[in-house]
Amino acid sequence: EPLRSLILAAAGNDVIRRAVARSFTVPGARRIVARFVPGETVADALAAVRALATDGRYATLDYLGEWTRDRGQVERAVRTYLRLLDGLAEQGLSGHAEVSVKLSALTVDGDPALASLSLGRICEAAQRCGTTVTVDMEDHTTTDSTLAVVNDARRTWPWVGAVVQSYLRRSETDVAALAHKGSRVRLCKGAYAEPGDVAHSDAHAVDLSYVRCANLLLEGGAYAMFATHDPRLVGVLRQRTRWYGRRPGTYEYQMLYGVRPDEQRRLAAEGETVRVYVPFGEQWYGYLMRRLAERPANLALFLRALVSR
Ligand code: FDA
Repeated sequence: EPLRSLILAAAGNDVIRRAVARSFTVPGARRIVARFVPGETVADALAAVRALATDGRYATLDYLGEWTRDRGQVERAVRTYLRLLDGLAEQGLSGHAEVSVKLSALTVDGDPALASLSLGRICEAAQRCGTTVTVDMEDHTTTDSTLAVVNDARRTWPWVGAVVQSYLRRSETDVAALAHKGSRVRLCKGAYAEPGDVAHSDAHAVDLSYVRCANLLLEGGAYAMFATHDPRLVGVLRQRTRWYGRRPGTYEYQMLYGVRPDEQRRLAAEGETVRVYVPFGEQWYGYLMRRLAERPANLALFLRALVSR
């Protein structure tokens, strides 16, 4: 836990950010990044969708970036999503992929009006291309504003996906409001360093909360998107989905690109819907740090690659 907090703190430090960004020129380090991020361009993202589709896996594509500082950057992010959605349609891949967005990349200084406007442009394009959008959840200071923007967007595009993080103490209340038929909800544990008064720090409490939220989603008839690599949770979820009489296709599993790919393929081969979260773009730093914080063994690999150059 202390190591996780330390890595997440480093994620916000500009000096460390620059040092790690320089390390991208080191081949070994580049390989570690490439394990989690298939590339920097729209073409790389589309190639990853095609590769996943060959064994029946779906994708949700995330153009990396967060906490944007100016409108120009927001415009670039929106346009990249529009090009991506056009690319999916042109290549006949709309049925295989949707997109994930972070509102902090689609607005400046948390302005909700700009966030809604940018999200709306992306939703319109997604609708045209026959696919969906899920709005990632960021740290707890943004939970209320993110849910407000999502609920607003759902009035026009009811398929907009929301995300609930089971580590937050408030999550069961949030899930209860989202657990209705037709509501697409991704359930994850949560990836940010949060204070103890808002989030459970005990892993077991996070797991119990996850299962309680999952039950609420299944019971309420929502389209649940179970985002976890935890084998014990996946076992419980497979049992719970059967108990609620859910057939594959009325819920799905989601995992990150490069994490437990064999398990992804195994679940897909057994007839489960499996969607892989595929991040792409130049701003991979914050994303990479969260992945390293989840599994210190990844950090050891990364550091070893740096010193053995
Ligand atoms: P846990 O961290 O307990 O890991 C269980 C096991 O999975 C580990 O023992 C290991 O085997 C494997 N594993 C997990 N992470 C790994 C890694 N990085 N490298 C290698 N192995 C790993 N968070 C958030 O706050 N907001 C969001 O919007 C999202 N969105 C999202 C989408 C999708 C599709 C996924 C899969 C995850 C997210 N997350 C997220 C991240 C999520 O909150 C969480 O941090 C990670 O999924 C890790 O938690 P697990 O449930 O996998 O369990």
